[in-house]
Amino acid sequence: MTERVIHNQWSSRLAFMLAATGSAVGLGNIWKFPYITGEYGGGAFVLVYLVCIALIGIPVMMAEILLGRRARANPIDAFRSQAEAEGRSRAWGGVGLMGVFAGFVILSFYSVVAGWALAYVFEALSGAFDGLDGETSGALFGALTGSPQRLLFWHTVFMLLTVAVVARGVRSGLERLVTLLMPLLLVLLALLVGYAMAAGEFARGFHYLFDVDFSRVFLQCGDDGACTFTAEPLLAAMGHAFFTLSLGMGAIMVYGSYMPREASIAGSTVMIAIADTLVALMAGLAIFPLVFANGLEPGAGPGLVFVSLPIAFGAMPGGQLVGVLFFLLLVFAAWSSSISVMEPGVAWLSENGHLSRGRASLILGGLAWLLGIGAALSFNLWSGEDYQLFGKTLFDLEDFLASNVLLPLGGLFITLFVGWVVRRRGSEDELAMHSPRLFGLWYFVIRYVAPAGIVLVFLNAIGVV
Ligand code: PFF
Repeated sequence: MTERVIHNQWSSRLAFMLAATGSAVGLGNIWKFPYITGEYGGGAFVLVYLVCIALIGIPVMMAEILLGRRARANPIDAFRSQAEAEGRSRAWGGVGLMGVFAGFVILSFYSVVAGWALAYVFEALSGAFDGLDGETSGALFGALTGSPQRLLFWHTVFMLLTVAVVARGVRSGLERLVTLLMPLLLVLLALLVGYAMAAGEFARGFHYLFDVDFSRVFLQCGDDGACTFTAEPLLAAMGHAFFTLSLGMGAIMVYGSYMPREASIAGSTVMIAIADTLVALMAGLAIFPLVFANGLEPGAGPGLVFVSLPIAFGAMPGGQLVGVLFFLLLVFAAWSSSISVMEPGVAWLSENGHLSRGRASLILGGLAWLLGIGAALSFNLWSGEDYQLFGKTLFDLEDFLASNVLLPLGGLFITLFVGWVVRRRGSEDELAMHSPRLFGLWYFVIRYVAPAGIVLVFLNAIGVV
């Protein structure tokens, strides 16, 4: 296979690790995980999500990194060249294209939520969190989401931040920034968990997250007491496993293409997955005790984090500073993720020589910004039923389409490609695992378990199984 000349390579394994962790850890962990856990009813959802991370997420991440590093190219060309090398159709490049499309959809609503975090940095600075309770905190958040102007302003600022970094190339300074900020985010989260232990209903929050009661999550009961099974939480848990690990759309694949040869793919993957899961669980442990202590609804929806945590910031000593720092770090976490969402598309457009990185990021960012306007208006002007499809706002539809359809579908094709198109020997060489038995296990999972699991969840969701 020909090695393509690519624009970038990480300076070390550590640089790859930091960038990939920066991609994985983001709004998905701190904003989305707690809120969908609350919507789907707690512990059983968390368990299914953890099983998806272990059984599908980790093997698929290894497959993505190996594909990227083997091809040393953007996802579209990576699929094309490796399919060709195996004597198969170049149409496999379509999987990469679908990933670029998924990234564009994700970026559109991701930027809106990151905009909330940006706005909250300034709310914290101005002392707006002082003495908040459940009701006033809800009102503060409602005032933000109720204002199209404010949402569009912060959405625009965040999109510009993303475009500015992607235009210059992923390595420009971001590595160092992330090195510094990720540990700080962990420390702050630990502090918040400590606060939740002291001031919140910690035991209740803990049980909510970890007590497994399948009937509460998978049974939908009407007023007459009759219950039916619902498969939606299963699809949501699997979709979120893809979303939180940045899988199924080529983001980790393109980062893998910049990875040095000598780094271990399996070792890196496990560490990234552990770090990502830890952050999500810590966010849950910080948030749910506060939710219960302040009479909030766990299933309140996308505002959960933005309503619950400011109450804590407003009450704890030094809370103003902690609040500013927290939302600032959340913005950085979102930033290092949104950059990776854009990277596959920008790498593809620029490596083929059609466009410069700057132009490519401006165009992709601009299109995502346009679609993001719809996501922002979903909370105010377009929140009514007239603007909904299948009972979902545009914001919810974008999230559903990307996370629960496109990413798992991309993941399915990745497992089929690595399991059935790429020769076993090729993957074995690239992974270079010490234990042949572990490699065998991974290969079995990629060939049979993961694709079957994804297909089953899909069939389940549309009511076939
Ligand atoms: N993993 C990111 C998060 O949890 O916030 C979101 C994300 C990044 C999704 C990159 C997909 C992606 F390609």
